[in-house]
Amino acid sequence: MAGIVWLLLLAFSSLITLSGAEDFVPPQYNVSLDLPPDQRWEPVLKQYNSTYLRETMYYLFDMSIPKWAHVVILPITDIDLFLLAKEPYASEILGIAKTLGVHPGDVLGLNLVYEATAYCTSIIAQDEKGNLYHGRNLDYNFADILRNLTVDLNFIKGGQIVYTGTTFIGYVGLWTGQSPHIFTVSGDAREQDGKWWENAIYAFLKRSSPVSWLIRDTLNNAKDFQSAVLHLSVTPIIAETYYIMAGTQPKEGVVITRNRNGPADIWPLDPLYGEWFHVETNYDHWTNPPPTDDRRTPAIKAMNATGQANITLDSLYKVLSVTPVLNQQTIYTTVMSAAFPEKYTTRIRN
Ligand SMILES: *[C@@H]1O[C@H](CO)[C@@H](O)[C@H](O)[C@H]1NC(C)=O
Ligand SMILES: *[C@@H]1O[C@H](CO)[C@@H](O)[C@H](O)[C@H]1NC(C)=O
Ligand SMILES: *[C@@H]1O[C@H](CO)[C@@H](O)[C@H](O)[C@H]1NC(C)=O
Ligand SMILES: *[C@@H]1O[C@H](CO)[C@@H](O)[C@H](O)[C@H]1NC(C)=O
Ligand SMILES: *[C@@H]1O[C@H](CO)[C@@H](O)[C@H](O)[C@H]1NC(C)=O
Repeated sequence: MAGIVWLLLLAFSSLITLSGAEDFVPPQYNVSLDLPPDQRWEPVLKQYNSTYLRETMYYLFDMSIPKWAHVVILPITDIDLFLLAKEPYASEILGIAKTLGVHPGDVLGLNLVYEATAYCTSIIAQDEKGNLYHGRNLDYNFADILRNLTVDLNFIKGGQIVYTGTTFIGYVGLWTGQSPHIFTVSGDAREQDGKWWENAIYAFLKRSSPVSWLIRDTLNNAKDFQSAVLHLSVTPIIAETYYIMAGTQPKEGVVITRNRNGPADIWPLDPLYGEWFHVETNYDHWTNPPPTDDRRTPAIKAMNATGQANITLDSLYKVLSVTPVLNQQTIYTTVMSAAFPEKYTTRIRN
């Protein structure tokens, strides 16, 4: 009898663990920009089970990349990689492939996978004192796997944090990042049509930048908010996207709608005329989102209900936790404010 009760209790407590899984802070690592690119990811990769990383990589590659594209990507050699991809990304990908004992084409393919069709929500806001806040949910398929692979990274040079970002192990680009005291940035996918892979690979072969590499380059290089906006607006990229940015000064907030070759639209905050926040999901802001995927209206309602006087990183996190802004596919939520870089916070959502 006691045995049965014990079994029931065990079964019950494991149910609780499953259904009541808590949100948690992802692991945080430093990536040293002082190390050569082909060595700088090794200390992070060593924290993970490499068999597990290899298996998940093959699985994601198989599930996500169309078969014809396997033929293009898989045979890529070390030499091709340097011709196709710019530095430091070519060397970083090569270093990751060596550390994990896989072919460079596998790692490159994995890096292109996440460029495709991510459903996300990004919000920028200015409070009544002129402080800027930025939050994002990253939604994607394979959420169960990617929650395990999400990390917060500080990119370090000479003992200083040059920039911070959130990414998945093995992925060298950033969809979410912060250049301390200068700007914060997130990317949301724009197009989801059937031609995605053809267009992206064609553009990649023409040496356009993956969307997330441009974010990392800009975090690394831009000396001020305006030059970051310019860089993210005009540099050719392999897929259409939205770049959402916030700076440190009043009115420094903008949603850039990108075509591959340049900006389609630039949508700044306009707090003097009531536009103290912008919400960007995966649809052009001048159109209505489809009723089957309207995360925009609930997010705007929640922002309205919070009010400009009460917006903080905490209240922004709550807005990003409203259903369906937060949904089954949400992998992580990050809230950040470039003027207070130490407040950068990511939580994995369960
Ligand atoms: C590493 O992952 C593999 C595959 O998922 C698993 O079989 C193995 O037990 C793991 N090793 C360790 C030390 O956890
Ligand atoms: C996530 O990681 C945990 C612990 O390492 C493992 O037990 C679990 O199977 C992983 N989940 C997936 C979907 O890979
Ligand atoms: C990461 O780098 C920062 C800045 O140099 C340093 O303060 C911190 O201790 C480092 N963290 C780890 C885990 O090495
Ligand atoms: C949010 O507030 C603005 C300004 O008061 C209003 O125009 C808009 O309709 C509101 N939107 C929603 C979804 O509540
Ligand atoms: C905003 O904060 C003020 C003061 O902290 C509070 O009185 C007010 O009710 C809040 N407004 C909302 C909409 O929560």
